[in-house]
Amino acid sequence: MNKTIYQERRNALAKLIYTKTGGGIAVISTAPELARNRDSEFPYRHDSDFFYLTGFEEPGASLVIVVKGGDKTHQVQSHLFCRPKDPEREIWDGIRLGPEAAPTMLGIEYAHSNQELDHKLGELLANQDAIYIRLAESAEADRRLRHWMKQVRGQGRSGINPPSEFHDVEALIHEMRLFKDEHEIDIMRRAAAISARAHIRAMQICRPGMREYQLEAELLHEFRNSGAQSVAYNSIVAGGANSCILHYRAGSTELRNGELCLIDAGCELDGYASDITRTFPVNGKFTGPQRALYDITLAAQEAAIAMARPGNTFMQPHEAALTVLTQGLLDENLLKLSELGSLENAIETGAYRRFYMHRTSHWLGMDVHDVGSYREHTENSLQEEKPWRILKRDMVITIEPGLYIRPADDIDAAFWNIGIRIEDDAVINDSGCELISRGVPVNADEIEAIMKNA
Ligand code: GLY
Ligand code: MN
Ligand code: MN
Repeated sequence: MNKTIYQERRNALAKLIYTKTGGGIAVISTAPELARNRDSEFPYRHDSDFFYLTGFEEPGASLVIVVKGGDKTHQVQSHLFCRPKDPEREIWDGIRLGPEAAPTMLGIEYAHSNQELDHKLGELLANQDAIYIRLAESAEADRRLRHWMKQVRGQGRSGINPPSEFHDVEALIHEMRLFKDEHEIDIMRRAAAISARAHIRAMQICRPGMREYQLEAELLHEFRNSGAQSVAYNSIVAGGANSCILHYRAGSTELRNGELCLIDAGCELDGYASDITRTFPVNGKFTGPQRALYDITLAAQEAAIAMARPGNTFMQPHEAALTVLTQGLLDENLLKLSELGSLENAIETGAYRRFYMHRTSHWLGMDVHDVGSYREHTENSLQEEKPWRILKRDMVITIEPGLYIRPADDIDAAFWNIGIRIEDDAVINDSGCELISRGVPVNADEIEAIMKNA
């Protein structure tokens, strides 16, 4: 484990706290374990913010960062609260790091049993003006905070003051997480490479008569066999009409000759997501109408990719995709030029939304829909709408245009149930972007070749 990166992140957060309030104390807990039923739990997944600052994956842990400000500089002390060693429980649940080993293993100054958290926070919060926590997180978190505050307030007659300022710690951490460091980009490249191989595997194995869940199994095989710990989100494997349902899951629908299969699936590797969508013909050969809409979607993606570069806004790739998709819909007479008058009007009136109802991009990182504001931070709070975020080096976005044609009387039946999305992951660099998920081709001819040669 590279302890330094986590120390550097804690120091960077401490510096933000020092700059904002001259000092303070931050408390960030990891995610709770969740019961699935009776004695069985959902697979445990740490909280992303907590992991970002500690690299620690066990449940039941909290991080407290104490920032003591001086005139010109500040001091940082980090405390980890974690599950104590317990030979009996470890037989059942596995080895715990424990507070004795944590400082050396994690490079953190202090570690304590999590049973001491409430008591110790009473001490640490004394005479701190500002506390940085997740605001309005849960009733349980509020209850704990009240308990800590009560302890400090109880010492008032000894001259000890409780904090009087409450700040949102997430806003600071999420701004940090929006910009990925080399370590993170390296993991994301590897995650995307695994997911790309999984998509190729699914294309190669697909045959008419198979069921969606069988392709899902192939994806999972590649993810786990490559060392990915999990899916980054529930895989979508959607045959035929299901491809037009945006949040469909892999079900038991048969994949039929002549229909499309849309797969939106990505693994999570070492805490980082990948997010890839490919759409291919179940029998390995696109029909004319499928190919026409596929090529429009791909052209829209290429237009968006060209706009994914530093200095452009987050919305520019979307606007570029929208123009190409809408022109394509007019060309195929799915939108009627005679009714809409012009491309501009088809976009302005939102007529395209019937066939393209989602955005083209989102941040990608530890979470598939990753954190970070989509708007610029401007001082002028009276401004009605803050401008869209300017893309900068080391931000990571998805680029995922789509077209979804559901059956309707006014639509040529040749287009019914064609749902297409093409999604890649892009790291913004100095001159444009690096597509880290192109280990699986997007070109229709290349997809057909992969399927034919399987
Ligand atoms: N897989 C979720 C998304 O594409 O946004
Ligand atoms: Mn996505
Ligand atoms: Mn996706």
